Amino acid sequence: MTQLFSKINQLHEFLASRQALSLTATGLIPTMGALHQGHLSLIQRSLAQDQTTIVSIFVNPIQFAPGEDFERYPRQLEQDLALCQQAGVDAVFAPDAQEIFGENWADSSQKTLIHPPTAITEVLCGRSRPGHFVGVATLVTKLLNIVQPQHAYFGQKDAQQVAVIKSLVKDLNLPVEIISCPIARDKQGLALSSRNQHLTEAQRIVAPQIFASLQAAQSVFINDQKDSDRLCQIVINYLANLPELKLDYLQVVDPHTMQSISSIAHSGLLAIAVYLGKIRLIDNILLTNQI
Ligand code: PAJ
Repeated sequence: MTQLFSKINQLHEFLASRQALSLTATGLIPTMGALHQGHLSLIQRSLAQDQTTIVSIFVNPIQFAPGEDFERYPRQLEQDLALCQQAGVDAVFAPDAQEIFGENWADSSQKTLIHPPTAITEVLCGRSRPGHFVGVATLVTKLLNIVQPQHAYFGQKDAQQVAVIKSLVKDLNLPVEIISCPIARDKQGLALSSRNQHLTEAQRIVAPQIFASLQAAQSVFINDQKDSDRLCQIVINYLANLPELKLDYLQVVDPHTMQSISSIAHSGLLAIAVYLGKIRLIDNILLTNQI
């Protein structure tokens, strides 16, 4: 039976009861809800290796800039709970903003915020979403402190987010192992995302071309093209026939530091963000010479 908690002290009581049963290995999967198979793949990793699996569901207001889709972000707690129940999740932690950030939560001048290294945050998604990773890092630090898990699971779909979290755990000496999980895709190759449910039927047909364009670059990479600009040009040419897709960024970066690289010696992350109408979709592919 999946337990649902909206208060930190209830969750702490539950965690204490697990400790009392010597069920000490806890895994945390932080999410914003509207759960899909991508989230589920993270949950399953935890279920396989932890004694207690906690899923947090919280649409974090401080990682959305004004004008982004905070209000429109899908919220479906009942459906999410049913999915967690079916999967065998031990507890869902679904607090409100006041429980997490306290009184005056919207006034950032009154709060401690975690600033990840600007070298990581000023590129890719950070460039088009200023303040986003401060919001993510602050929330995730709080969740790690609240739950104190041994493992926390994040998806490689948000590769820059993984880099931010890994650096924060290292730099702040947090006692948790960050586990990065592969991107879950639908049959057409579209990376699963809660935002996909906003796509119209016509947009759904176009969206899988994002991954197809990255694969086109991958096949050229395998045939010995290591130059970043040329690889990006393959993607641009591929997408040129699809005027519905508006490129936000496209870059080859070092997979750990997220710094731009001009050619791929060992491995590079080809990362893309596009707008399909108002919906912003991201994807990436790891190009590696290592077998
Ligand atoms: P959310 O978008 O709900 O994603 C929760 C976790 O699921 C993230 O680690 C994300 O990378 C992972 N995920 C999403 N789609 C995936 C897919 N197709 N394949 C594999 N993993 C996938 O990311 C966030 O929420 C928030 O920023 C959060 C970390 C919860 C902080 O608010």
